[in-house]
Amino acid sequence: MTTAVNNIHPHKSENCKRTEKLIQEITQIRKKRNAVILAHNYQIPVIQDLADFVGDSLGLSRQAAATKSDVIVFCGVHFMAETAAILCPEKRVLIPDLEAGCSLAASITLDRLVKWKAEHPGAVVVSYVNTTAAIKAESDYCCTSGNALQIVKSIDADKEILFLPDVFLGSWVKRMTGRENIHIWMGECHVHTAIHPRSIDEKMREHPQAELLIHPECGCLTPYLDRVARLVKGDQLKVASTEGMIVRACQSPAKQFVVATEVGILHRLQKENPDKEFIPIQDEMSCQFMKMITLEKLHAALANDQYQVTVPEEVAAKARLSIERMVAVG
Ligand code: 13P
Ligand code: SF4
Repeated sequence: MTTAVNNIHPHKSENCKRTEKLIQEITQIRKKRNAVILAHNYQIPVIQDLADFVGDSLGLSRQAAATKSDVIVFCGVHFMAETAAILCPEKRVLIPDLEAGCSLAASITLDRLVKWKAEHPGAVVVSYVNTTAAIKAESDYCCTSGNALQIVKSIDADKEILFLPDVFLGSWVKRMTGRENIHIWMGECHVHTAIHPRSIDEKMREHPQAELLIHPECGCLTPYLDRVARLVKGDQLKVASTEGMIVRACQSPAKQFVVATEVGILHRLQKENPDKEFIPIQDEMSCQFMKMITLEKLHAALANDQYQVTVPEEVAAKARLSIERMVAVG
């Protein structure tokens, strides 16, 4: 999807004119540089509207792997740009702000993983995509919230599994597969962990007909899943990745949805479903790392060719294996 602005209206505010000028220049430079703009579902609306593709971690990795462009500008957080760099070593991958990190990815270090593996020799390591390249390189499988269940189900039932770093996603997978031999790292995302089932009680009481869309990183999910499930009927609850939420909202006959994830997703949900209502579980659920990417920084990234994200080939080669194993499963 491409937005081109041709006319700059004389009476528009300075801010508005500046935004239009930036958009116009971004449109020109990206064409000249044969660049593709990938944006995560949590990006600010103007970035989503400018992007060639908007999606979840898995979808954006796939777009990165398939692109014919020379340059990938990744509007998301650092581990996502790293994943693109691992999958496309021949492309120039840029992130508009190098500080756009992820609290979940930061919850495990290489030293701690190496120690954990030594405590469980022979265990299969499954890492959520929200991890650094170094962690992926020490993993057997990568997974996303969209395919974590499938990946774990594909592993021999008698194999021990080390699942990292998200404790809520890991516990949900453990519960859904019924496997006892999964050890789960105690990492969490500071945004999703803050959702309390009390918020779900309140929102579902206010909107009893609404469907509940929950991201598996949410703190409310595992210890309270039974309770949450009692509050809503089976077909009223959908646990999904950000892209899974978009698909569900488009396909469901429901007219109202309570959305338990970062608020950036509301833009696309509303844009693709103008006749439906989306209610955030908590207005303050915003990821400051995702919001570090602004139009100005996207413009500077393209104009100044900054900031390149690279992964040393010996790390990338091992990390690529874990991602390719994931893609082979689904
Ligand atoms: P998705 O892969 O579902 O988009 O999730 C990524 C993420 O960072 C959620 O916080
Ligand atoms: Fe990381 Fe949480 Fe932000 Fe997602 S919402 S990028 S998991 S800090």
